[in-house]
Amino acid sequence: MKALVLIGGFGTRLRPITYLVPKQLIPLAGKPMLYHVLDLLPPEVEEVVLATGYKAELVEAYVRAHPPRWPVRTVPEAQPLGTGGGMKNAGGGMSDPFFLLNSDVIAAADLGAMARRHRSSGGVGTMALASVEDTRPYGVAALDADDRITAFVEKPEPRDAPSHWINAGLAVWAAAVLDRIPTGRPVSFEREVVPGLLAARVYGHRLERYWDDAGTPDRLLNAQRLLFDDGRGGDGRLPPGAHGTGPVATLEGATAHDAHLGPYVTLGPNARVEPGARVRNSVLMDGVVVGRDARVEGSILGPGFRVPDGARVENAVLAGGDPETPS
Ligand code: GDD
Ligand code: MG
Repeated sequence: MKALVLIGGFGTRLRPITYLVPKQLIPLAGKPMLYHVLDLLPPEVEEVVLATGYKAELVEAYVRAHPPRWPVRTVPEAQPLGTGGGMKNAGGGMSDPFFLLNSDVIAAADLGAMARRHRSSGGVGTMALASVEDTRPYGVAALDADDRITAFVEKPEPRDAPSHWINAGLAVWAAAVLDRIPTGRPVSFEREVVPGLLAARVYGHRLERYWDDAGTPDRLLNAQRLLFDDGRGGDGRLPPGAHGTGPVATLEGATAHDAHLGPYVTLGPNARVEPGARVRNSVLMDGVVVGRDARVEGSILGPGFRVPDGARVENAVLAGGDPETPS
Protein backbone atom coordinates (compact mmCIF):
# COMPACT_ATOMS: atom_id res chain seq x y z
CA MET A 1 0.00 0.00 0.00
CA LYS A 2 0.97 3.61 -0.53
CA ALA A 3 0.15 6.57 1.69
CA LEU A 4 -0.99 10.03 0.67
CA VAL A 5 -0.25 12.67 3.30
CA LEU A 6 -1.86 16.13 3.18
CA ILE A 7 0.57 18.92 4.10
CA GLY A 8 -0.88 22.05 2.58
CA GLY A 9 -2.83 24.66 4.47
CA PHE A 10 -1.42 27.80 6.02
CA GLY A 11 -1.44 26.81 9.67
CA THR A 12 -3.18 30.11 10.46
CA ARG A 13 -3.97 29.06 14.02
CA LEU A 14 -0.23 28.78 14.78
CA ARG A 15 0.84 32.17 13.49
CA PRO A 16 3.28 33.87 13.71
CA ILE A 17 5.46 30.72 13.72
CA THR A 18 3.74 29.46 10.57
CA TYR A 19 4.77 32.62 8.74
CA LEU A 20 8.26 31.07 8.96
CA VAL A 21 7.75 27.31 9.09
CA PRO A 22 4.87 25.01 8.11
CA LYS A 23 3.18 23.64 11.24
CA GLN A 24 4.07 20.07 10.27
CA LEU A 25 7.73 20.83 11.00
CA ILE A 26 7.15 22.09 14.54
CA PRO A 27 8.80 19.53 16.81
CA LEU A 28 6.64 17.85 19.47
CA ALA A 29 8.39 15.63 22.00
CA GLY A 30 11.50 15.92 19.85
CA LYS A 31 10.09 15.22 16.37
CA PRO A 32 8.16 17.24 13.81
CA MET A 33 4.45 16.47 14.01
CA LEU A 34 4.65 15.13 10.44
CA TYR A 35 7.05 12.41 11.58
CA HIS A 36 4.79 11.35 14.45
CA VAL A 37 2.05 10.83 11.85
CA LEU A 38 4.38 8.84 9.58
CA ASP A 39 5.36 6.68 12.58
CA LEU A 40 1.83 5.25 12.51
CA LEU A 41 2.33 3.71 9.05
CA PRO A 42 3.07 -0.01 8.85
CA PRO A 43 6.67 -0.77 7.80
CA GLU A 44 5.55 -2.49 4.59
CA VAL A 45 4.18 0.71 3.04
CA GLU A 46 5.80 1.05 -0.40
CA GLU A 47 5.77 4.79 -0.87
CA VAL A 48 4.68 7.94 0.93
CA VAL A 49 3.42 10.77 -1.24
CA LEU A 50 3.36 14.19 0.43
CA ALA A 51 0.78 16.56 -1.04
CA THR A 52 2.47 19.83 -0.17
CA GLY A 53 1.54 23.45 -0.76
CA TYR A 54 2.42 26.31 1.56
CA LYS A 55 6.21 26.38 2.11
CA ALA A 56 6.58 23.13 0.18
CA GLU A 57 10.31 23.77 -0.29
CA LEU A 58 10.91 23.68 3.49
CA VAL A 59 9.08 20.36 3.83
CA GLU A 60 11.03 18.99 0.88
CA ALA A 61 14.38 20.12 2.33
CA TYR A 62 13.57 18.70 5.77
CA VAL A 63 12.51 15.35 4.37
CA ARG A 64 15.66 15.19 2.25
CA ALA A 65 17.83 15.89 5.31
CA HIS A 66 15.90 13.46 7.54
CA PRO A 67 14.78 10.59 5.31
CA PRO A 68 11.91 8.57 6.81
CA ARG A 69 12.00 4.77 6.51
CA TRP A 70 9.81 4.71 3.38
CA PRO A 71 10.57 6.14 -0.05
CA VAL A 72 9.05 9.61 -0.09
CA ARG A 73 7.91 11.75 -3.00
CA THR A 74 6.59 15.30 -2.64
CA VAL A 75 4.01 16.74 -5.02
CA PRO A 76 3.57 20.46 -4.47
CA GLU A 77 0.54 22.43 -5.61
CA ALA A 78 0.93 25.91 -7.04
CA GLN A 79 -2.31 27.19 -5.46
CA PRO A 80 -3.93 25.74 -2.34
CA LEU A 81 -6.36 23.14 -3.65
CA GLY A 82 -8.00 22.11 -0.38
CA THR A 83 -7.87 18.57 0.96
CA GLY A 84 -9.66 16.99 -2.03
CA GLY A 85 -7.78 19.08 -4.60
CA GLY A 86 -4.49 18.14 -2.95
CA MET A 87 -5.45 14.45 -3.08
CA LYS A 88 -6.34 14.73 -6.75
CA ASN A 89 -3.17 16.65 -7.59
CA ALA A 90 -0.85 14.20 -5.84
CA GLY A 91 -2.86 11.00 -6.14
CA GLY A 92 -1.67 9.74 -9.54
CA GLY A 93 -0.45 6.13 -9.27
CA MET A 94 -1.96 5.57 -5.80
CA SER A 95 -2.34 1.99 -4.62
CA ASP A 96 -5.80 0.45 -4.21
CA PRO A 97 -6.59 0.94 -1.40
CA PHE A 98 -4.33 3.69 -0.04
CA PHE A 99 -3.82 5.41 3.30
CA LEU A 100 -4.89 9.04 3.54
CA LEU A 101 -3.33 10.91 6.45
CA ASN A 102 -3.67 14.45 7.73
CA SER A 103 -0.26 15.60 8.90
CA ASP A 104 -1.29 17.45 12.06
CA VAL A 105 -2.86 14.67 14.13
CA ILE A 106 -1.41 12.77 17.05
CA ALA A 107 -2.91 9.38 17.79
CA ALA A 108 -2.45 5.87 19.05
CA ALA A 109 -3.72 3.93 16.04
CA ASP A 110 -2.98 0.58 14.44
CA LEU A 111 -3.24 1.50 10.77
CA GLY A 112 -2.30 -2.03 9.68
CA ALA A 113 -5.34 -3.38 11.53
CA MET A 114 -7.48 -0.64 10.03
CA ALA A 115 -6.34 -1.60 6.51
CA ARG A 116 -7.14 -5.28 7.13
CA ARG A 117 -10.56 -4.36 8.43
CA HIS A 118 -11.10 -2.16 5.40
CA ARG A 119 -10.33 -4.99 2.99
CA SER A 120 -12.67 -7.40 4.71
CA SER A 121 -15.50 -4.85 4.87
CA GLY A 122 -15.96 -4.58 1.11
CA GLY A 123 -16.64 -0.83 1.42
CA VAL A 124 -14.91 2.10 -0.33
CA GLY A 125 -13.41 3.60 2.77
CA THR A 126 -12.61 3.22 6.47
CA MET A 127 -12.04 6.31 8.57
CA ALA A 128 -10.44 6.30 11.99
CA LEU A 129 -12.80 8.08 14.39
CA ALA A 130 -11.99 9.71 17.72
CA SER A 131 -14.45 10.59 20.45
CA VAL A 132 -14.29 14.26 21.50
CA GLU A 133 -16.39 16.59 23.65
CA ASP A 134 -16.38 19.58 21.34
CA THR A 135 -17.04 18.43 17.79
CA ARG A 136 -17.22 21.92 16.23
CA PRO A 137 -13.72 21.97 14.64
CA TYR A 138 -14.09 18.53 13.05
CA GLY A 139 -15.95 16.28 10.64
CA VAL A 140 -18.59 14.30 12.54
CA ALA A 141 -19.91 10.83 11.69
CA ALA A 142 -23.14 8.99 12.52
CA LEU A 143 -22.68 5.22 12.80
CA ASP A 144 -24.99 2.23 12.66
CA ALA A 145 -24.64 -0.93 14.76
CA ASP A 146 -21.99 -2.33 12.36
CA ASP A 147 -19.95 0.89 12.53
CA ARG A 148 -20.99 1.80 9.02
CA ILE A 149 -21.02 5.58 8.62
CA THR A 150 -24.57 6.69 7.82
CA ALA A 151 -23.99 10.45 7.79
CA PHE A 152 -20.95 12.75 7.73
CA VAL A 153 -21.03 16.49 8.41
CA GLU A 154 -17.95 18.71 8.34
CA LYS A 155 -17.76 21.24 11.19
CA PRO A 156 -21.45 21.22 12.10
CA GLU A 157 -23.13 23.48 14.61
CA PRO A 158 -23.30 21.53 17.91
CA ARG A 159 -27.04 20.95 17.54
CA ASP A 160 -26.46 19.39 14.11
CA ALA A 161 -23.61 17.07 15.19
CA PRO A 162 -24.87 13.51 14.78
CA SER A 163 -22.51 12.04 17.42
CA HIS A 164 -19.25 12.63 19.30
CA TRP A 165 -17.26 10.52 16.84
CA ILE A 166 -15.13 12.66 14.60
CA ASN A 167 -12.89 12.09 11.60
CA ALA A 168 -9.45 11.52 13.11
CA GLY A 169 -7.70 12.38 9.84
CA LEU A 170 -6.40 8.81 9.31
CA ALA A 171 -8.19 6.71 6.73
CA VAL A 172 -8.03 3.98 4.11
CA TRP A 173 -9.75 4.67 0.78
CA ALA A 174 -10.29 2.74 -2.44
CA ALA A 175 -8.33 4.35 -5.30
CA ALA A 176 -11.65 4.90 -7.11
CA VAL A 177 -12.56 7.72 -4.71
CA LEU A 178 -9.95 9.88 -6.43
CA ASP A 179 -12.13 9.73 -9.57
CA ARG A 180 -14.91 11.42 -7.62
CA ILE A 181 -12.88 14.57 -6.99
CA PRO A 182 -13.34 17.34 -9.53
CA THR A 183 -10.14 18.78 -11.07
CA GLY A 184 -8.91 22.29 -11.60
CA ARG A 185 -10.38 23.97 -8.52
CA PRO A 186 -10.09 23.80 -4.74
CA VAL A 187 -12.15 20.97 -3.28
CA SER A 188 -12.85 20.05 0.33
CA PHE A 189 -12.79 16.25 0.38
CA GLU A 190 -14.71 16.20 3.65
CA ARG A 191 -17.48 18.60 2.58
CA GLU A 192 -17.86 17.86 -1.09
CA VAL A 193 -16.84 14.25 -1.59
CA VAL A 194 -17.19 12.12 1.55
CA PRO A 195 -20.99 12.50 1.96
CA GLY A 196 -21.48 11.18 -1.60
CA LEU A 197 -19.31 8.12 -0.90
CA LEU A 198 -21.41 6.83 1.99
CA ALA A 199 -23.84 4.97 -0.31
CA ALA A 200 -20.91 2.79 -1.43
CA ARG A 201 -20.22 1.96 2.24
CA VAL A 202 -17.71 3.73 4.44
CA TYR A 203 -16.88 2.32 7.86
CA GLY A 204 -15.67 3.90 11.07
CA HIS A 205 -12.69 2.51 12.99
CA ARG A 206 -12.98 3.80 16.54
CA LEU A 207 -9.75 4.83 18.24
CA GLU A 208 -9.74 3.70 21.84
CA ARG A 209 -6.73 5.48 23.30
CA TYR A 210 -5.63 9.02 22.57
CA TRP A 211 -6.04 11.44 19.69
CA ASP A 212 -5.58 15.15 19.12
CA ASP A 213 -5.31 17.63 16.28
CA ALA A 214 -2.18 19.68 16.95
CA GLY A 215 -3.27 22.64 14.83
CA THR A 216 -3.85 25.15 17.64
CA PRO A 217 -1.44 26.24 20.40
CA ASP A 218 -3.33 24.55 23.26
CA ARG A 219 -3.87 21.34 21.41
CA LEU A 220 -0.30 21.28 20.12
CA LEU A 221 0.98 21.35 23.69
CA ASN A 222 -1.61 18.76 24.69
CA ALA A 223 -0.42 16.56 21.82
CA GLN A 224 3.15 16.89 23.08
CA ARG A 225 2.05 15.74 26.57
CA LEU A 226 0.24 12.75 25.07
CA LEU A 227 3.34 11.77 23.09
CA PHE A 228 5.66 12.04 26.09
CA ASP A 229 3.22 10.12 28.31
CA ASP A 230 3.09 7.37 25.69
CA GLY A 231 6.88 7.09 25.60
CA ARG A 232 7.10 8.60 22.11
CA GLY A 233 9.44 11.39 23.21
CA GLY A 234 12.60 9.31 23.56
CA ASP A 235 13.98 8.67 27.05
CA GLY A 236 12.85 12.12 28.23
CA ARG A 237 16.08 12.61 30.17
CA LEU A 238 17.32 16.06 31.14
CA PRO A 239 20.27 17.43 29.17
CA PRO A 240 23.61 17.61 31.04
CA GLY A 241 23.72 20.15 33.84
CA ALA A 242 19.96 20.83 33.87
CA HIS A 243 17.65 20.08 36.75
CA GLY A 244 13.90 19.58 37.12
CA THR A 245 11.48 16.78 36.42
CA GLY A 246 11.60 16.21 32.67
CA PRO A 247 10.44 14.73 30.40
CA VAL A 248 12.55 16.73 27.98
CA ALA A 249 13.44 15.98 24.37
CA THR A 250 16.82 17.53 23.64
CA LEU A 251 17.76 17.93 19.99
CA GLU A 252 21.25 18.27 18.61
CA GLY A 253 23.34 21.04 20.09
CA ALA A 254 20.73 22.21 22.64
CA THR A 255 22.02 23.14 26.09
CA ALA A 256 20.47 24.05 29.44
CA HIS A 257 23.18 24.27 32.10
CA ASP A 258 21.79 25.16 35.52
CA ALA A 259 18.33 25.66 34.08
CA HIS A 260 15.12 24.06 35.40
CA LEU A 261 13.20 22.03 32.82
CA GLY A 262 9.92 20.18 32.70
CA PRO A 263 7.52 18.74 32.61
CA TYR A 264 7.00 18.37 28.84
CA VAL A 265 9.65 20.36 27.02
CA THR A 266 11.21 20.11 23.57
CA LEU A 267 14.55 21.88 23.14
CA GLY A 268 15.04 22.29 19.41
CA PRO A 269 18.42 22.06 17.68
CA ASN A 270 20.93 24.50 19.20
CA ALA A 271 18.38 25.99 21.60
CA ARG A 272 20.00 27.45 24.73
CA VAL A 273 18.40 27.86 28.12
CA GLU A 274 20.62 29.96 30.35
CA PRO A 275 21.34 29.47 34.05
CA GLY A 276 18.46 30.15 36.43
CA ALA A 277 15.83 30.03 33.70
CA ARG A 278 12.78 27.74 33.92
CA VAL A 279 10.94 26.15 31.02
CA ARG A 280 7.86 23.96 31.28
CA ASN A 281 5.17 22.64 28.95
CA SER A 282 6.71 24.34 25.93
CA VAL A 283 8.35 23.88 22.56
CA LEU A 284 11.53 25.82 21.79
CA MET A 285 12.43 25.61 18.12
CA ASP A 286 15.92 25.78 16.64
CA GLY A 287 18.27 28.37 18.02
CA VAL A 288 15.83 29.76 20.63
CA VAL A 289 17.61 31.44 23.53
CA VAL A 290 15.99 31.76 26.95
CA GLY A 291 17.95 34.32 28.94
CA ARG A 292 19.10 34.01 32.55
CA ASP A 293 16.37 33.71 35.16
CA ALA A 294 13.63 33.96 32.52
CA ARG A 295 10.44 31.83 32.70
CA VAL A 296 8.73 30.15 29.78
CA GLU A 297 5.51 28.24 30.27
CA GLY A 298 2.79 26.90 27.94
CA SER A 299 4.48 28.49 24.95
CA ILE A 300 5.75 27.72 21.49
CA LEU A 301 8.79 29.77 20.45
CA GLY A 302 9.72 29.93 16.78
CA PRO A 303 13.19 29.59 15.26
CA GLY A 304 15.74 32.00 16.68
CA PHE A 305 13.38 33.66 19.15
CA ARG A 306 15.20 35.23 22.12
CA VAL A 307 13.65 35.64 25.53
CA PRO A 308 15.53 38.41 27.39
CA ASP A 309 17.06 37.81 30.81
CA GLY A 310 14.45 37.78 33.57
CA ALA A 311 11.47 37.95 31.19
CA ARG A 312 8.27 35.93 31.62
CA VAL A 313 6.55 34.28 28.69
CA GLU A 314 3.28 32.47 29.28
CA ASN A 315 0.77 30.86 26.92
CA ALA A 316 2.33 32.55 23.91
CA VAL A 317 3.21 31.69 20.33
CA LEU A 318 6.14 33.90 19.34
CA ALA A 319 8.49 34.17 16.41
CA GLY A 320 11.07 36.55 15.09
CA GLY A 321 14.15 38.16 16.58
CA ASP A 322 14.56 40.22 19.73
CA PRO A 323 11.20 41.57 20.83
CA GLU A 324 11.30 44.82 22.81
CA THR A 325 8.73 43.55 25.26
CA PRO A 326 7.88 39.89 25.23
CA SER A 327 4.47 39.11 26.70
N1 GDD B 1 -2.18 19.62 -0.03
C1 GDD B 1 -3.01 20.33 0.70
N2 GDD B 1 -3.65 21.42 0.14
N3 GDD B 1 -3.21 20.00 2.00
C2 GDD B 1 -4.05 20.75 2.74
C3 GDD B 1 -4.73 21.87 2.22
C4 GDD B 1 -4.51 22.22 0.85
O1 GDD B 1 -5.05 23.20 0.30
N4 GDD B 1 -5.48 22.41 3.21
C5 GDD B 1 -5.27 21.66 4.31
N5 GDD B 1 -4.39 20.66 4.03
C6 GDD B 1 -3.89 19.61 4.95
C7 GDD B 1 -3.44 20.15 6.30
O2 GDD B 1 -2.04 20.37 6.31
C8 GDD B 1 -3.81 19.04 7.25
O3 GDD B 1 -2.80 18.04 7.33
C9 GDD B 1 -5.01 18.39 6.59
O4 GDD B 1 -4.98 18.77 5.20
C10 GDD B 1 -6.34 18.87 7.21
O5 GDD B 1 -6.39 20.29 7.11
P1 GDD B 1 -6.69 21.20 8.38
O6 GDD B 1 -6.71 22.61 7.90
O7 GDD B 1 -5.80 20.86 9.51
O8 GDD B 1 -8.19 20.76 8.63
P2 GDD B 1 -9.01 20.68 9.98
O9 GDD B 1 -8.15 20.29 11.11
O10 GDD B 1 -9.80 21.94 10.11
O11 GDD B 1 -10.07 19.48 9.64
C11 GDD B 1 -9.62 18.24 9.12
O12 GDD B 1 -9.01 17.46 10.13
C12 GDD B 1 -9.90 17.08 11.22
C13 GDD B 1 -9.10 16.21 12.16
O13 GDD B 1 -8.03 16.89 12.66
C14 GDD B 1 -10.82 17.50 8.51
O14 GDD B 1 -10.30 16.34 7.87
C15 GDD B 1 -11.83 17.08 9.59
O15 GDD B 1 -12.86 16.28 9.02
C16 GDD B 1 -11.12 16.29 10.67
O16 GDD B 1 -12.03 16.00 11.73
MG1 MG C 1 -6.11 20.09 11.44
